Amino acid sequence: MNLMGVAVHMETKLWVVDKNGDNLKSYPHIKEAARLLTNNEVVAFPTETVYGLGANATLDHAVNKIFEAKGRPSDNPLIVHIANRTQLDDIASDVPDVVDILIEHFWPGPLTLVLRKKATYISERVTAGLDTVAVRMPDHPIALAILEEAKVPVAAPSANLSGRPSPTTAAHVVDYLKGRISGIVDGGPTGVGLESTVLDCTEEVPVILRPGGITKEQLERVCGQVHVDAALVVEGQAPKSPGMKYTHYAPKAPVSIVEGSPQFLQDVVKEKQLAGFKVGVLTTSEREGFYDAERIVICGTRSDLKTVASGLYDALRSFDESDVDYIISESFPQEGLGVAIMNRLLKAASFQVIREK
Ligand code: TXA
Ligand code: MG
Repeated sequence: MNLMGVAVHMETKLWVVDKNGDNLKSYPHIKEAARLLTNNEVVAFPTETVYGLGANATLDHAVNKIFEAKGRPSDNPLIVHIANRTQLDDIASDVPDVVDILIEHFWPGPLTLVLRKKATYISERVTAGLDTVAVRMPDHPIALAILEEAKVPVAAPSANLSGRPSPTTAAHVVDYLKGRISGIVDGGPTGVGLESTVLDCTEEVPVILRPGGITKEQLERVCGQVHVDAALVVEGQAPKSPGMKYTHYAPKAPVSIVEGSPQFLQDVVKEKQLAGFKVGVLTTSEREGFYDAERIVICGTRSDLKTVASGLYDALRSFDESDVDYIISESFPQEGLGVAIMNRLLKAASFQVIREK
C-alpha cells in the first residue's frame, strides 16, 4: 500500500553489477539505471555508506516519488548527489573557502556539506523549503558511474522505508522497496555502513548536524575548529537537521542500551526473561561468550569500530527475522567512529539506556 492507501505493485528491475569492473559507464545495466533517472523514475544504487534511493533532483514530480516510495515526511530534506565539483556551482552559492579544503580532502567520500542554495535549479521538494542545500559526492564506482551517465544531480536518501534501519545490501532494499520503485542496482554490500557525516558550512565555524563516516577529529585536522549541533549532545534541543528529530534505524522489537559490565548486561537479560520476554543481545566478538539469551548477534570487533559500523544495520535488522521481543545492546565509547555508532543505536533505542550503578 502507498501513502494514499493504494496497493503499489510496479515492476522493480534488479541489476547485478560488479563494482570492480572497468569502464562501468559503458555497462548496459548502468546505462539503463541512469536513463531511468534522467526519465524521472526512482532507482536504488549502492554508495560507500548505505544504499540510496535516487531521483532527478531538479524536478518536483521525480522527487515526489522518493517521498511516496519511502513514506518519508515531506519536511525532511534530501541530500543531492553529484559526480564532479563543477556540478556544485549550479546548486550552491556563496561557497566559503573552507569548503574547497574539505572537498579536496574528503570528496568523493562520506561527507555531506550543507551550503546556501542557488535559487531555482534544485527542486523545492529536495530542500523542504529551506534556503540551504545538502550535497555530497559518493565514493563508490557504481554511484559515480550512474551519476555521470545521468548527467543530472540526484537526490538520494537511504533506500529504506522511513524509520527503519538503512540498507547495506541490495537484499535489504528488495525487502523494503520491491514493487514501489523502478529498479535496484546490486553492487554488493556497502563499506562504511553508516550514513555520511552532515556538516553545516553556512556558519563561521562548521557544525556537525549528523555524525557519520568522517569523524570530528578527521575534520578538525583539516579545517581547525568544528562544532557539534547542541541537539546531538543536549537532550530536548531541537536539531538543526530536520531528519535528526525522527525515530530512526529501529528494528521491530524495542531496544535498550546497557552501559556497564557484561555481567550487568546478563543480569538485565535475566530480568527481562523473567518478565516474559524473549531477549536478543547485540554484542561484539570479544564478548559473545558472556551471554545466555534467546538470540545473540555479533556485530564486529571492539578493536576496530569500522567493523561495528559496517555491520550495525544488518545486525539490527537480523532481530526482525527471529521471534525475540526485546533487544539489549552493548554500548560503545563516544569517540571517533563510536560517536556515529552510538548516535544510531540511541535512536534505534529511542534513547533507552540502562546504566550500572
Ligand atoms: O550516506 C548518506 O548520506 C546516504 C547515502 C544514500 O548518500 N543518504 C542519507 O540520506 O543518509 P537521508 O535522507 O537518509 O539523510 C539526509 C540527512 C537528514 O538527516 C536530513 O535532515 C539532512 O540530511 N539534511 C538534508 N538537507 C539538509 C539541509 N539543507 N539542512 C540540514 N540538514 C539537511
Ligand atoms: Mg535515512
